[in-house]
Amino acid sequence: MPEADVKELKSFYTEIPQKTEGFFLKGCGSLDWGMKNRMARIFNPLSGRTVMLAFDHGYFQGPTTGLERIDITILPLIPYADTLMLTRGILRSIIPASANKAIVLRASGGPSILKEMSEEEIAVDIDDCIRLNVCAMAVQVFIGGEFEKQSVMNMTKLVDLGTRYGIPTLAVTAVGKDMARDARYFRLATRMCAELGAHYIKSYYVEEGFETVTACCPVPIVVAGGKKIPELDALKMAYNAVQQGASGVDMGRNIFQSDSPTAMIQAVRAVVHDNETPDKAYDLYNTLKNRNEKSR
Ligand code: 5RP
Repeated sequence: MPEADVKELKSFYTEIPQKTEGFFLKGCGSLDWGMKNRMARIFNPLSGRTVMLAFDHGYFQGPTTGLERIDITILPLIPYADTLMLTRGILRSIIPASANKAIVLRASGGPSILKEMSEEEIAVDIDDCIRLNVCAMAVQVFIGGEFEKQSVMNMTKLVDLGTRYGIPTLAVTAVGKDMARDARYFRLATRMCAELGAHYIKSYYVEEGFETVTACCPVPIVVAGGKKIPELDALKMAYNAVQQGASGVDMGRNIFQSDSPTAMIQAVRAVVHDNETPDKAYDLYNTLKNRNEKSR
């Protein structure tokens, strides 16, 4: 029998207006609930930032150094990542579903490193993204590349498909070998992706003017790590990026090719989530690395 509607026993708190909370991520306030929920799994609502562990490199270059055996090298890092960026092949074959991490699925592909890289197409069906419960789909966008328009259209198609089901799209700005990596280029590339509907954007960090890239992009930017550099330099890059407006990192090689990947990812976390300085984070890296070596 339904509860009798006896008003005196109920609390309506008529004197307290209902809270209407804003959303913590730049430019995401008008997204639908499902999109916001997925973005809040990728980005930590407390810091507003994310440490995405990227290990999707095999989709165009096969067994990349450090990713030859993902079961051995990457699984131990998962507890320290907020988000995993990977292909569906690796997700299904190696990553335990119980890992319960936000998944950003590589959704474009086609050419290998032996061919013209910008000729990618959408390489996953939206049904499979739903089946895999992904939090976002990642698509490479080659502004200035030979197949620029095709890659931009891949992105807009994914944005449309994802919007139907509440799944955000991450636009990954890809830089060709001969293209300038400067603030002017990344302002153009990131802004184009945002204007055309991407929910967040991966860029590279540039020493000069990076704050102008984040300032004129209306949605969150995360920075890729790029080629392996010394640990302290990678921590400085991550620090400068977040202090200049990035909402976190999408870092691969500078973590999984580090001398101590578990120490490195924890040091990166300290910089991204706790605003730790690069020198202090590097001390943490060395402490954890030495501890790991002793316990072997
Ligand atoms: C590959 C990618 C990578 O996921 C991205 O570049 C991050 O990896 P790294 O830090 O090694 O550059 O998009 O195309």
